[in-house]
Amino acid sequence: MKVTVVGAGAVGASCAEYIAIKNFASEVVILDIKEGFAEGKAMDLMQCASLNGFDTKITGVTNDYSKTADSDICVITSGIPRKPGMTREELIGINAGIVKDVSTSLLEHSPNMILIVVSNPMDTMTYLAHKATGMPKNRIIGMGGALDSARFKYRLAEALGAPISDVDGMVIGGHSDVGMVPLTSHATRNSIKVSEFLSEERLEQVAADTKVGGATLTKLLGTSAWYAPGAAVSGMVQAIACDTKKIFPCSTYLEGEYGLNDICIGVPVVLGKDGIEKIVDIPLSDAEKAHVQASAEGVTKTNGLLNL
Ligand code: 2OP
Repeated sequence: MKVTVVGAGAVGASCAEYIAIKNFASEVVILDIKEGFAEGKAMDLMQCASLNGFDTKITGVTNDYSKTADSDICVITSGIPRKPGMTREELIGINAGIVKDVSTSLLEHSPNMILIVVSNPMDTMTYLAHKATGMPKNRIIGMGGALDSARFKYRLAEALGAPISDVDGMVIGGHSDVGMVPLTSHATRNSIKVSEFLSEERLEQVAADTKVGGATLTKLLGTSAWYAPGAAVSGMVQAIACDTKKIFPCSTYLEGEYGLNDICIGVPVVLGKDGIEKIVDIPLSDAEKAHVQASAEGVTKTNGLLNL
């Protein structure tokens, strides 16, 4: 199992590290355009192999896509991250050109790859990858919901005073500060609806804190987060590599599902060896349906900024 991670920045390097530590991939290639940067990150990570007990071979290359050839899974993390006060959508001007070039360069050397897009604005970058590569829709996946759901569970556990291992919850919709849809009506604490423990007002605060989870960290860190984004995408890579059939909320190209067309946006999907193996239709309240529709309108507006 060969995995390529494009972008040796904090998110890409964290993703590569988690993949290596989970030891399910034989090889991870990290590619960056900055001379020596990916090589240095790869070497540093390889020097953790004996300490963290993995046999994964991690190599770094500077802008040489031939070294990514025949990758099973490719992850695009390249592009500029947010600064405090910025929205993800403001990154489109620079990141769109990067994602278009990177996705087509990867496809040239790995025609059968499954592509995971992390770069922001992620739903629009995932849509761009579809239009730029023409790959089958099951093989292009956007990572946002897995991260947002992890933040949702963090906030739920905090509100409940419960261990995170007892909490389950999912965020769908666009990966944006205003477009996320935390499904509070579906969230549980060990199979018990969280509404049995938390008031409507407290759940609204949990949802609100979840939606700005990324912006909260960008304000604290001065740049976008990297540990949880890296962990989220490494979990998706593992589900595909190990054909686990786990359900993740992922940005995927919709053709009528959830009443939406010609858009990439977060919905529950089954991930396995073929990438997105099934889009899962779940019951939504009228309010949740309205939130998803509004979120889709926001993503479509951002898509309109692309010069397709
Ligand atoms: C985040 O929410 C980088 O979009 C990513 O942290």
